[in-house]
Amino acid sequence: MIKSTSQIRQEFLNFFHSKGHQIITSSPLILPDDTTLLFTNAGMNQFKDIFLGQKKPKYTRITTAQRCLRVGGKHNDLEKVGYTARHHTFFEMLGNFSFGDYFKQEAISLAWELLTSSKWFGLPKDKLLVTVYADDHDTFKIWEKKIGLPLERIIRIGDNRGSAYASDNFWQMSETGPCGPCSEIFFDHGAHIKGGLPGSTDEGGDRYIEIWNLVFMQFNRKSNGTMIPLPMPAVDTGMGLERITAVLQNVHSNYNIDLFQKLIQSIIQITGTTKIHDKSLHVIADHIRSCAFLIADGVLPSNENRSYVLRRLIRRAVRHGYTLGAQKGFFCKLVSPLIHVMDESAETLKRYQNKVEQVLKTEEEKCDKTLEKGLFLLNQELSKTSDDTLNGETLFRLYDTFGFPIELVEDICRERHISVDKVGFTLAMKEQRQRARNASGFHTNYNNVLYITHKSEFKGYDCLQLNAVISIVIVNEEIVDTIYAGQDGVIILDCTPFYPEGGGQVGDQGTLTAHNHTCFIIKNTKKYAQAIGHIGTLTHGRLSKGDTVLAQVDKENQISIRLNHSATHLLQAALRLILGPKVTQKGSLINAQYLRFDFSYDQPMTQAETREVEAIVNKQIRRNLPIEVHIMELNKAITLGAMALFTEKYDQYVRVLKIDDFSIELCGGTHAQRTGDIGLFHITSESGSASGVRRIEAVTGEEALSKIYHPYDALSDIAQLLRVNHRNLYKKVSSLIDCVQTLEKKTQNLQHQQAIQESLLLRKKAIEIKNIQIVISHVNVSEPKILRILVDNLKHHLGSAIIVLATISNGKVSLVTGVTKDLTHHTTATELLKYLAKQIHGKGGGSQHLAQATGVNIEALPTALTNVKSWISDKIKII
Ligand code: ALA
Repeated sequence: MIKSTSQIRQEFLNFFHSKGHQIITSSPLILPDDTTLLFTNAGMNQFKDIFLGQKKPKYTRITTAQRCLRVGGKHNDLEKVGYTARHHTFFEMLGNFSFGDYFKQEAISLAWELLTSSKWFGLPKDKLLVTVYADDHDTFKIWEKKIGLPLERIIRIGDNRGSAYASDNFWQMSETGPCGPCSEIFFDHGAHIKGGLPGSTDEGGDRYIEIWNLVFMQFNRKSNGTMIPLPMPAVDTGMGLERITAVLQNVHSNYNIDLFQKLIQSIIQITGTTKIHDKSLHVIADHIRSCAFLIADGVLPSNENRSYVLRRLIRRAVRHGYTLGAQKGFFCKLVSPLIHVMDESAETLKRYQNKVEQVLKTEEEKCDKTLEKGLFLLNQELSKTSDDTLNGETLFRLYDTFGFPIELVEDICRERHISVDKVGFTLAMKEQRQRARNASGFHTNYNNVLYITHKSEFKGYDCLQLNAVISIVIVNEEIVDTIYAGQDGVIILDCTPFYPEGGGQVGDQGTLTAHNHTCFIIKNTKKYAQAIGHIGTLTHGRLSKGDTVLAQVDKENQISIRLNHSATHLLQAALRLILGPKVTQKGSLINAQYLRFDFSYDQPMTQAETREVEAIVNKQIRRNLPIEVHIMELNKAITLGAMALFTEKYDQYVRVLKIDDFSIELCGGTHAQRTGDIGLFHITSESGSASGVRRIEAVTGEEALSKIYHPYDALSDIAQLLRVNHRNLYKKVSSLIDCVQTLEKKTQNLQHQQAIQESLLLRKKAIEIKNIQIVISHVNVSEPKILRILVDNLKHHLGSAIIVLATISNGKVSLVTGVTKDLTHHTTATELLKYLAKQIHGKGGGSQHLAQATGVNIEALPTALTNVKSWISDKIKII
């Protein structure tokens, strides 16, 4: 009977369970404490600290089915996925582990029994062959003598990857960490399939497939390349569930096993494709596994590190879906069938199914837009090119402007038998980095290179959209006639509703549009001498000098900015009321999200002052005062008491912002019409920004409302956690604190009692050397600090003694030595400690009578304790 993938997974775990192994669940794909790893790439990752001797194992024999991801980092198979029979980004690794328990011989016997016994996998012995690390003679002998494998099916492989220990048969988790020689077991799929023996020149074929890797962990590789022997040799094995299933189900490609076949059937159904033999089905089947589990394990798509890997995988899968003719939104529909086929291993995914589907859906929508534009550009380029190579510049433009991962373009080009110029891509990338380094803000600081005499008229006080004519186009620091789709640039208009960055207020965002979907997306607006430059990217069409465009400011964004700007004026006036006229503006930042106001004041504000300022501003908001704008002569404004901090000059005239008699300021920014528009004002922080300068950050409108809810939400969460209502929260937390204190006291008492009992036992173990009582013992105590209590206790009861006590906790040895006063002429506690600490690679110190050390060499403890006896004996002087 043919076993299913789920049955095979379970049978593996059952086998090792029957051999005394504890079954442990898979760890997530991200191990937050391990910065050397991008993703979990092997079963042993979650046990790294145990291999390194930094953590004591709870069980010495363990077995797992670990979800793994190999994309990025040391083990990276992304490009092969979908195009070979057995590569995946996501796969499950079946493994058994021994921590200081069995080693090479039993590991090999166990593997052989599971693979060949008719009770278990029952594979024909003559179909199996193995490789061993060239210098690992022990392993060679075990295969030859104990297992009886013919010599021609045991292949030695040395350092075949260019340096010492760089070998297919020397496994290491990443650039640093646990590693050791390994022995790999291969299955021969038969002479009808192409491919040579492992180690031969045509080993890359599919005839001999590695199914199991047995690693004998012996070293910790440091970042400088040195190999430190591990505290205890250990075994780490890994068998790809999908590969062994292919063998046991008599299929050659992993994608033909039951799990993938069912998943692929669901993909066919959901995409409605008729291309039922297309490789894209493999890519999607693989990628839905990695994407869904990554999200379930806490990764969200974005442009950084792990999150970018996820984004690339989603984009690649979605693109392959579209080539199959899938409708938008197909990808998230695959989560449910995936849960079904993953069976026992889908537990986490099941728990987070809704979240995973939602994230995939949103990302697919985002990716649709970019894909569409990028594909348009790519198709245009491909139809233009007569070469069989896509140039690096286009490749880079697709990557930089449309977020096209390079492998996505490669996939598309591969389908058309066109290669890509990766070298050109890298060059373009380097140039871009250099440009960014030289520039500030936007890629290039155009002000540095261009002298613009043009004057633009700002109309944004009165309107947020208008028709305007293009006066100047700048691309790559040069004035040009035309800007084309995909290019970044700066466009200057005769008049504009876009506010250019100034007076603390950020520049506006929005669009310039024209006929035929021509669209220039504006990310920022800045002044270029007297001109106003719109900085952004042309996503569609082309724009030339003289063209008319519709200039539209992002209205919502601009309205939020206005509220924050008007609130800043109210804030300044309120600060002067509460803190006095010493307060003057030192700087400000006003954007759509929040406002920041720096002012001269030489001490932190009290909470009461901050509250009062907040209350005054909110009172002015409730008064719903009109915000008036007056253009007047500078002198007049100053006489009126206007704060002249930012002067936007209209020749000798200035713009004055007046809010009743509460605030009067010179200001060129954009503002709300009435204070009531601000809705609500909330200070989020008060801090020091420079010597004698304080900084307030605050929010307004909806943002303020949501910020104000935060502490309530947190309180509700806590109340829910503690299962009480808000009113009883204080009482509940007080009683919990009392409870913790009582428990701490109880624990302390128990530790004392433990110490007393232990010291009774130890007293009996005292031996006499040259008439002096000596206690040397390795004890099991719950905390190292108990050792000191024990030593004191022993000294007290024995009256005169030399004492050495040791314990192991958290993977470290703790030692305490004690010498009673009358014996310090023989030796002292510190001398004794020094002798012992060296052996356990420890450090410590103390007094003549009591000393303490902690060390990492656990292995050395038994010998150290045995030898210390004769050392003490030598020290005792007979008078
Ligand atoms: N850790 C070993 C591997 O990944 C078993 O191949």
